[in-house]
Amino acid sequence: MARHLITSALPYINGIKHLGNMVGSMLPADVYARYLRQRGHEVLYICATDEHGTPAELAAKEAGVPVDAFCAEQHDAQKAIYDGFELAFDYFGRSSSAENRDITQHFARRLKENGFIEERAIRQVFSIADDRFLPDRYIVGTCPHCGYDKARGDQCENCTRVLDPTDLIEPRSAISGSSDLEVRETKHLFLLQSKLAGEVERWIDATSEEWPQLASSIARKWLTEGLHDRAITRDLDWGVPVPADTWPDLAAEGKVFYVWFDAPVEYIGATKEWADAAPDTGTEDRDWKSWWYDADDTVRYTEFMAKDNVPFHTVMFPATQLGTREPWKKVDYVKAFNWLNYYGGKFSTSQKRGIFTDAALELLPADYWRYFLMANAPESDDTSFSWEHFTATVNKDLADTLGNFVNRVLSFSRKRFGDAVPAGSAAGPAEARLGEEIARLLAEYEGHMEALQFRKAAAALRALWSAGNSYLEEKAPWLEIKTDEEGAALTLRTAMNLIHLYAVVSEPFIPASARAMRSAFALADDTAAWVSAEEAKALASVPAGTAFTVPPVLFAKITDEELAAYRERFGGEGEEPAA
Ligand code: MF3
Ligand code: ZN
Repeated sequence: MARHLITSALPYINGIKHLGNMVGSMLPADVYARYLRQRGHEVLYICATDEHGTPAELAAKEAGVPVDAFCAEQHDAQKAIYDGFELAFDYFGRSSSAENRDITQHFARRLKENGFIEERAIRQVFSIADDRFLPDRYIVGTCPHCGYDKARGDQCENCTRVLDPTDLIEPRSAISGSSDLEVRETKHLFLLQSKLAGEVERWIDATSEEWPQLASSIARKWLTEGLHDRAITRDLDWGVPVPADTWPDLAAEGKVFYVWFDAPVEYIGATKEWADAAPDTGTEDRDWKSWWYDADDTVRYTEFMAKDNVPFHTVMFPATQLGTREPWKKVDYVKAFNWLNYYGGKFSTSQKRGIFTDAALELLPADYWRYFLMANAPESDDTSFSWEHFTATVNKDLADTLGNFVNRVLSFSRKRFGDAVPAGSAAGPAEARLGEEIARLLAEYEGHMEALQFRKAAAALRALWSAGNSYLEEKAPWLEIKTDEEGAALTLRTAMNLIHLYAVVSEPFIPASARAMRSAFALADDTAAWVSAEEAKALASVPAGTAFTVPPVLFAKITDEELAAYRERFGGEGEEPAA
């Protein structure tokens, strides 16, 4: 059995994420982690909030809260939502942890020792009133191109042109509003990526062969554009401090590392947080280093992220790791996603367009979202959310094909044969055909999951559910029972075995519904462990005589009125969301 290390891109701390963020990183990672665990692999699924950088400082300012308190609150708020979505992280950490600070500083020291970090003097805007250097985003002024008067020093939001702070007309500090600014010389640390370019390229050549094309093509594009040396420090109050033992001057000036330097290190940092948080009982083996440092070949590391994150994960972070000259585990497989759009336009956090994860859970249980999002994951192209499509999918696949099957079979059997699985006659040709079909579809489903092809996997899962419906229509036990009671009992016993199989194999996508299906049967030592091909063919894991209950309706259909209300509340095509 392999040991699977899985990470999903760390969500920024500066606000609740929307469904587009969810489907591009955390949700598919969770589906994959759950699948591998069920198949008996050792899995470590790590995520965390990405807490440093100007967006966090600015969001805290806007909320009028000290940045550390803001991050603590937001971390808990995000964690509660991810619990609601049943994301089964082994650990959900914080990039502001002491563990991450120590490992980030260690990385920086090693990079310096190896000649990959250098101090360089640059000219930067200093605010006399604020008594600090201002990062580009902290300088506002009038855009020289379009005249917008709140353009930021890095970019004009109005005309989207990239700017240099010195381009701004009447520049002022975004902190105090003061225009008492001057350009001063200051030192920053630069990561000499240009020196590592050849090595990174060789590593990509050796590793990327099986990556999805989206990931490898973005990585190649960055390589061809050339790996430039990059400033990896900033003048901010909040971040991993530059270590004083190595760079006393910079530390004295309060410089911190750039957020993209410490964020990927937090994959390691959060693993150490996980180990440090181990209960005292000593019964759990939480050896964080065995996953990351000099890890043996049995560790396979898979990363999940949206396409804008690919350059950082395929080029910059590997360069950083390589430059330490230490055996840090590098990614084996990069699963990258395109965008999920909202009615063809962008989901947008700043414009509050689309559906946010907190609102989604208030409307409907997590499984509805999990299934829809994965069945329409933007794998080969951008995809688009619409309430119409969502409603049709929920009603057809979840309510009709799966939910109705479960309910129909269990209620009918209970009514005619009581509260235990009936025996009936021995399996016949229809059951043999069904078993073959189920085993074939299961193998297909497994193949897509192993290949991390989630849309195809969801389609195979749906086909497994459909096969049950076809069997039921073919045998029609409600008619059969009039002439052949034993035959009808066989049909129902077989169908109940399908329900149990669905409970096991649907778990990665719809864990809560899977639990409801599984707990319908009073089986001793029932586990969610995977179904073998033989078991799928035999359809006999739930023996006659097993007591069962009829669970409440698994999926409620979304009505036309509800659909209209959702559209109205969130805004559909060409509509503005209701205020
Ligand atoms: N917070 C970043 C984003 O939302 C992702 C960080 S991923 C990590 O785009 F590599 F930094 F961990
Ligand atoms: Zn402009």
